[in-house]
Amino acid sequence: MCGIIGAIANRDITSVLIDGLKRLEYRGYDSAGLAVIDSDGELDLRRSVGRVVALEKICSDIHGHLGIAHTRWATHGRPAENNAHPHTSSHQVAVVHNGIIENHESLRQSQKEMGFPFSSETDTEVIVHQIDHHMQNGADLLCAVQNTVDELNGAYGLGVVSKQDTSRIIAARNGSPLLIGLGEDENFIASDMSALIPVAKQYMVLEDGDIADVTGTTVDIYDRDRKPVQRKVLVSSLSDDETSLDGYAHFMKKEIHEQTRAITETLEGRLGANSVLEIPFGENAKEIFDAAREIKIIACGTSYNAACVARYWFEEFGIRCDVEIASEYRYRKHVVNDGTLFVTISQSGETLDTMAALEMAKGLGYSNTLCICNAPESSLARASDLTIFTHAGREIGVASTKAFTTQLVTLLMLAICLRRRALNLSAEGDKIEHEIVLELRSLPSQIEHALGLEDDIIAMSKHFADRQHTLFLGRGAHYPIAVEGALKLKEISYIHAEAYAAGELKHGPLALVDADMPVVAVAPNNELLGKLKSNLEEVRARGGRLFVFADIDSGIHSDDDTHVLHVAPVNNYIAPIIYTIPLQLLSYHVALLKGTDIDKPRNLAKSVTVE
Ligand code: F6R
Repeated sequence: MCGIIGAIANRDITSVLIDGLKRLEYRGYDSAGLAVIDSDGELDLRRSVGRVVALEKICSDIHGHLGIAHTRWATHGRPAENNAHPHTSSHQVAVVHNGIIENHESLRQSQKEMGFPFSSETDTEVIVHQIDHHMQNGADLLCAVQNTVDELNGAYGLGVVSKQDTSRIIAARNGSPLLIGLGEDENFIASDMSALIPVAKQYMVLEDGDIADVTGTTVDIYDRDRKPVQRKVLVSSLSDDETSLDGYAHFMKKEIHEQTRAITETLEGRLGANSVLEIPFGENAKEIFDAAREIKIIACGTSYNAACVARYWFEEFGIRCDVEIASEYRYRKHVVNDGTLFVTISQSGETLDTMAALEMAKGLGYSNTLCICNAPESSLARASDLTIFTHAGREIGVASTKAFTTQLVTLLMLAICLRRRALNLSAEGDKIEHEIVLELRSLPSQIEHALGLEDDIIAMSKHFADRQHTLFLGRGAHYPIAVEGALKLKEISYIHAEAYAAGELKHGPLALVDADMPVVAVAPNNELLGKLKSNLEEVRARGGRLFVFADIDSGIHSDDDTHVLHVAPVNNYIAPIIYTIPLQLLSYHVALLKGTDIDKPRNLAKSVTVE
């Protein structure tokens, strides 16, 4: 999704801006641009559709000490050069913007009446004209931005420069993350710290309503009431180590294979001999767990699928658990029972719908807020009472893989901590806790084993590459695993994939089944296996082609219409984590055969910071 970087320094900053944009590419975008105040004091604007390398090619002759740059993920107006940011007004002011301005139509109308010409279809262009309008009426750059944001409804992270004042960048935030990177006699703005890895370690996070006046040597921040405020200086732990392909063809493949390490690190320090330890979850974890009698989980996409798996664990352990998509949760009324813990799950920690749901939940009487997150320097982590980090390492492929399995591991540990309270067990737990802890310890080697299915999955993927549609089936906690498998396939191979709880097949989707419709199923050896087998027979009876990941002892074997890949026996609690792996590999290899842009699939973004 859109990314911002800006720089003011005593050196040429064009390469800093281009490098920062490349580092923001993982978020997903369709066009890019930059505006630099050049050595003649002129505003030099370059924009292009497509990848940042295309922009880089047209920027080799630009030099300057002050500039802003942007990767755009289209919301208002198609991907086109004139819609790419920065937007300018009268060649005086340039703006980059993340977010959506809801009252852009009325502003556009009044600006047209004032004679401002429009060159884009974006909501952003009204911001730059409004700033220009205030400057034409005598305001300096800071005041002009302050006056403008007072007139905006909606979400924004803004970077603004003007050729009339080449000593500052003005940054403003409301609902769209923005931070200030602090260098030596140079400062930066960015939508996330990964853009600034080589240039700044220290940074400050703007809060909603803040406006920052950033020069090369000073940063002055004003809050919503325009009072000067200090924001904490933080030190970033991000490094470049995680951003190389290490010989893999794609980040997604690297990240699938990194799951053994990611899970090992997520478990690190959190397991005792026979129990899950609570202290490593945070100073206030015990108190927050003590107060939790029910769970409400909010998330989007893959993180939502992780929540749906976890609901089976929580409820099996006697803890009521409700799961909801963030974008739906935000727009309805809620009845909150006493002692309900509000849990958000997010890889990026920046998903706008999840963040807005958390802000809304704070006023609704939940006992506490807990976030399961992979990004330590993220908005959700900062805004929650307690954050449990999944130590997956940076995930760059847009399709989430290692973040999902580490979320599951973390949720299972959380479920165990709450189970003790629900069942009145000691901190050392009981036989079931011991069993799960043993299984969690051996999870990395079990994942390795599942990754060993890759060659067979490559062969299987050939049956999918020319298909238009696919069905995924699962039962119980493996129904959300089927949903996650379908999500992976559709987002990176662009094959339409739908998942059903296998028992639902006969209530409608069976009508779709014929020899042209591959049906993928996950069949662990659990109490629902018999039921699932009957559902698979329903598919076979209609001439359907089955592709089944089945426990080796399931009694399901390959024949003319059924391709079976056998999975080693696995404990019921961790089976959903193991059965995720072959589905990730299947989608990857189908997409590879189709030649899609696996790490940056069309229309998608890694960090979804708009509604
Ligand atoms: C799919 C995927 C998305 C994200 C969703 C939420 O592979 O990655 O569905 O899971 O956009 O993102 P986070 O977890 O960052 O809140």
